Amino acid sequence: MRVAAKARGAGVSRLVALLALLSAARAAAQFFDVPYVPTPQVVVDEMLRLAEVRADDFVIDLGCGDGRIPVTAAAYFGARALGIDIDPGRIAESQANAKAAGVTGRVEFRQGNLFELDIRKATVVTMYLLPDINLKLRPRLFDALRPGTRIVSHDFSMGDWKPDRVHTVQKKIYVWVMPARVAGRWKLEADLPGVGARSYELEVRQKFQEIEPFAREEKRNYAVWEPRLNGSAISFIIVDNELAHRYEGVVEGTRIEGIVRTGAGTAEVQTPFRAVRIGDL
Ligand SMILES: C[S@@+](CC[C@H](N)C(=O)[O-])C[C@H]1O[C@@H](n2cnc3c(N)ncnc32)[C@H](O)[C@@H]1O
Repeated sequence: MRVAAKARGAGVSRLVALLALLSAARAAAQFFDVPYVPTPQVVVDEMLRLAEVRADDFVIDLGCGDGRIPVTAAAYFGARALGIDIDPGRIAESQANAKAAGVTGRVEFRQGNLFELDIRKATVVTMYLLPDINLKLRPRLFDALRPGTRIVSHDFSMGDWKPDRVHTVQKKIYVWVMPARVAGRWKLEADLPGVGARSYELEVRQKFQEIEPFAREEKRNYAVWEPRLNGSAISFIIVDNELAHRYEGVVEGTRIEGIVRTGAGTAEVQTPFRAVRIGDL
């Protein structure tokens, strides 16, 4: 009886092991969204250089392979870095590479699904995935990343989100800067030299980093020229009373603050301005 029970026990544990293996295989088949192909080291260096990685950055590589991007970010740019990969073998390689480079104190590797990683702390996100995976990832990037975060992709773009920069060294490298959200209606106030106090209503249409502002004060309309948004840095020009007023500000949630430059050369005068969000379009 005892022998039969033992045999039955062994059969059950074999079945449990088999089921675990099958579920791991299914998970692997389901989540290996991209095959392993390493980025050439020269391209890694260019990606991090283009992202202007510094010591105060936190770099996350989504699908880190053998960890070369996080290890390079830590070893040669002084940054802190995190790599995630679904494949435990790659994570073991990454950890060995971090150890060999002497950067285990500044890099971390996690085995897991990149779609489940909390990326809110990143100031730089790197990836070498596939076009459809980049697109699937895009809403998560917009939900989680702070304005100004740089996103660098080896080889693949991100649908209709135009890159801020495309650079080619052996391979194509795409760079985006996460734009602040500025779409909506703003009350813009400034005391302008040669004009006096102004309180414009500014309407801003936005598609990713491309913005189209339009200003109005009482019944007068003003074109807004050369609008730019780079992360949370916004700039534009309004011509009022025959003078170009160049606005340069920083968006922080529902406020924009900065300076207006009026006039040119030694005649340039700087005055402060502020804008407050007053609603949606
Ligand atoms: C093209 S390789 C890039 C490796 C590395 N980032 C580089 O540039 O050298 C893509 C990596 O993503 C990993 N991967 C695929 N699907 C994943 C997922 N859902 N979550 C995390 N890693 C994934 C693969 O195991 C592979 O190592």
